[in-house]
Amino acid sequence: MPTRTLRVDLKERGYDITIGSGTLAQCPQFLSERCGTSHVVLITDSVVDELYADAVGDLFVDAGLEVELLVIEAGEESKNAETLIDLWQTMLAEGADRGSVVAAVGGGVVGDIAGFVAATFARGVPFFQIPTTLLAQVDSSVGGKVGINLPEAKNIVGAFWQPLGVLIDVDVLSTLPANEFAAGMAEVVKYGVIMDLPFFEYLESHVEAINARDSEALQYVVERCCRLKADVVEEDEREESGRRAILNYGHTFAHAFEAATEYGQLLHGEAVAMGMVCASRLAERIGMIDAKSTERQVKLLEALSLPTQPLEFDSEEIYRLMWHDKKVAEGKLRFVLPNRLGEVILTSDVKSGDVIAVLNGQD
Ligand SMILES: NC(=O)c1ccc[n+]([C@@H]2O[C@H](COP(=O)([O-])OP(=O)(O)OC[C@H]3O[C@@H](n4cnc5c(N)ncnc54)[C@H](O)[C@@H]3O)[C@@H](O)[C@H]2O)c1
Ligand SMILES: [Zn+2]
Repeated sequence: MPTRTLRVDLKERGYDITIGSGTLAQCPQFLSERCGTSHVVLITDSVVDELYADAVGDLFVDAGLEVELLVIEAGEESKNAETLIDLWQTMLAEGADRGSVVAAVGGGVVGDIAGFVAATFARGVPFFQIPTTLLAQVDSSVGGKVGINLPEAKNIVGAFWQPLGVLIDVDVLSTLPANEFAAGMAEVVKYGVIMDLPFFEYLESHVEAINARDSEALQYVVERCCRLKADVVEEDEREESGRRAILNYGHTFAHAFEAATEYGQLLHGEAVAMGMVCASRLAERIGMIDAKSTERQVKLLEALSLPTQPLEFDSEEIYRLMWHDKKVAEGKLRFVLPNRLGEVILTSDVKSGDVIAVLNGQD
C-alpha cells in the first residue's frame, strides 16, 4: 500500500505527516527533503533504542549524515528537568548548534521531552517526530505541544513547538505491549465520539482487524486520527478559542482517576476509557444523549480490551481531585459532553450531585 501524506496548515508554517508501512527506512530522505542539515540528534528511550532507533541511526550514517544518538531511560519518570539538563549538556558536548536538527524516535515521553529540548536548545532548533507508540502516532506527535513534568504537576513546563514533519511507520506497532496498544485505542475511540460518527462506525466494524494489528486497518486509523487532530489544531493552535478543548473528552474524569492512583496503576488511555464512559453517563443524566450512545462506547471499548468501570474510588475524593485539573476554567469545572455520537459540547453547567452520582454508578 502506498504511503499517505497529510498536510497540517498552520499560520506560520505547515508540515507534513507521512503514514505508511515500512516508512522508517525513509527517515533520512524524509528529513533531508525538509531541512538542509547534516547534523542529526536522535533522541530515543532505552526500549525503542534496541528495537528501532539504533537501526535508524545507522540509516542516517549510511546517508552520509553525522548523527548523535541520545538515549533516555524508558518511562514517564524520565520526563523531568534532570533528563532535560542532561540532554542539553550532551548536545553541547557533542557539538550541536543552531544548524543541528532533533528527531524524536519513540512514544509520547520521548516526543514531549525531545520536542522541548528542540524548542529550547540554542533558542530553538528544527525538530521531527518519528512516533513509535499508537498514542504518539494518533495524538502526541501532532499539534506541537512539548514539555516536561514537575514533581508537583504533569506537563506544566513546556512550549508550543511544531515539528518540521512527522513520519509514521505503523509496522513498529507490532512490538507494542498489548496494554499500551489498547491505551492508544482509547484516544482513537475519543476522536470518533467527539467529531466523526462514520469513523466510530468504522471502528465498530473493524475491531478484529485492529486487534490483530492489521497494517491496512492501522494505517487508516492513524491517518483519520491525525487528520481529525490536525483539523482541530489548525483551528486553535494555541488553545485559545476553546476548540482544542474538545480533545479533552473523558479527560476531566481521567486525570482525577490517574491522580487518585498516583499515576502508578492506570495507563493514561485506560483512565481515558473509564473517563469517557463517565462523561457519556453524565450527558445521559442531564438529558443530552440516550443510553444507547453510551452503551455503544462501552461495547467498543470493551472489545478493545479497555476498562469501562471506574475502580473502587471514593467519589467525593475524585470530585475534589477534578478541581486540581488545569482544565478548570474561571472557577468552574468544565466538561466535554456528547450531544450525540460524533459531536460534543463544552459545558460548565453541571451539578456536583450529578457528577458524584455518575461516579457512584447510580442511574
Ligand atoms: N504533547 C501532546 O500533545 C501529548 C498528548 C498526549 C500525551 N502526551 C504525553 O505522552 C506521554 C505518553 O506517551 P506514550 O503512551 O507513548 O508512552 P511512552 O512514551 O512512555 O511509551 C510507552 C512504552 O512503550 C515503549 N515503546 C515505545 N514504542 C514502542 C514500540 N514500537 N514497541 C515496543 N515498545 C515501545 C516505551 O519504551 C515505553 O516503555 C505522556 O507523557 C503524556 O503526557 C503528550
Ligand atoms: Zn489523552
